[in-house]
Amino acid sequence: MAVIPRRVLLVGATQGLGLALAQRYRAEGWDVVATTVVPSPALEALDGITVLPLDITDEGQALALRDSLAGQRIDVLHIVAGILPQGDAPIWERADEEVLRVLKTNAIGSVRLATLLELLVPEGGTFAFTSSGMGSMVRNTLAGADLYRVSKAALNMLVRSFAVTHGGKRAVLIICPGWAKTEMGGADATVEVADSVDGIYRLVSTAHPSADGAPFLEYTGDTVPW
Ligand SMILES: NC(=O)c1ccc[n+]([C@@H]2O[C@H](COP(=O)([O-])OP(=O)(O)OC[C@H]3O[C@@H](n4cnc5c(N)ncnc54)[C@H](OP(=O)(O)O)[C@@H]3O)[C@@H](O)[C@H]2O)c1
Repeated sequence: MAVIPRRVLLVGATQGLGLALAQRYRAEGWDVVATTVVPSPALEALDGITVLPLDITDEGQALALRDSLAGQRIDVLHIVAGILPQGDAPIWERADEEVLRVLKTNAIGSVRLATLLELLVPEGGTFAFTSSGMGSMVRNTLAGADLYRVSKAALNMLVRSFAVTHGGKRAVLIICPGWAKTEMGGADATVEVADSVDGIYRLVSTAHPSADGAPFLEYTGDTVPW
């Protein structure tokens, strides 16, 4: 009997963890649809991958993506897109436009997209959101990076609500990739991209709906305290 490959929609795959995850899903035999804001030659060079445009902050582009995927099955909606605001100014010293842009990119856009695409994800499918330990209240013992922390804490809250209202018989995961050596993580990061992706892939590809709604998990599978 022919095995139908599972299909993932990977959002934010231009570079970093998103690109490495696209490579991993392909290597594991998945059909991969990936989105980028700017063109990504490394992504487009992958065999058998469909690349579509999406700025996650733009509702019109999210609706256009939904239209272009109409009728398709998405087993896993995996959202990786995110930005780290520059500098360490407290949130109240930043321009309103910047605060809104970061919240829309890291929190609001992800959950809006999942809500728009939810009918494409069948029972047994998975929604995976990319958060950060920086969004944990308990882990905030150093302060700093206000805006990034707030955006990831907001993502966690919105995803918890999404799991209640839209999860159904589908898994909903909130994943912290660890401090990974990407452009965002920088050279001092402690986790190799390959190790982060290995852990993330294992979590997503074996996910089941949870009585807890949306668990907050480290790439290693350990629970991150809220
Ligand atoms: N690296 C770490 O240490 C670390 C730790 C904790 C959490 N994270 C989270 O992990 C995710 C990936 O991080 P990374 O380290 O791979 O960062 P990265 O190398 O900077 O990549 C970020 C990705 O997000 C995409 N993106 C940014 N703005 C977007 C938008 N408006 N719409 C759609 N896509 C957008 C980028 O695409 P374009 O280039 O096309 O804009 C890029 O592919 C992020 O959510 C980040 O917050 C990372």
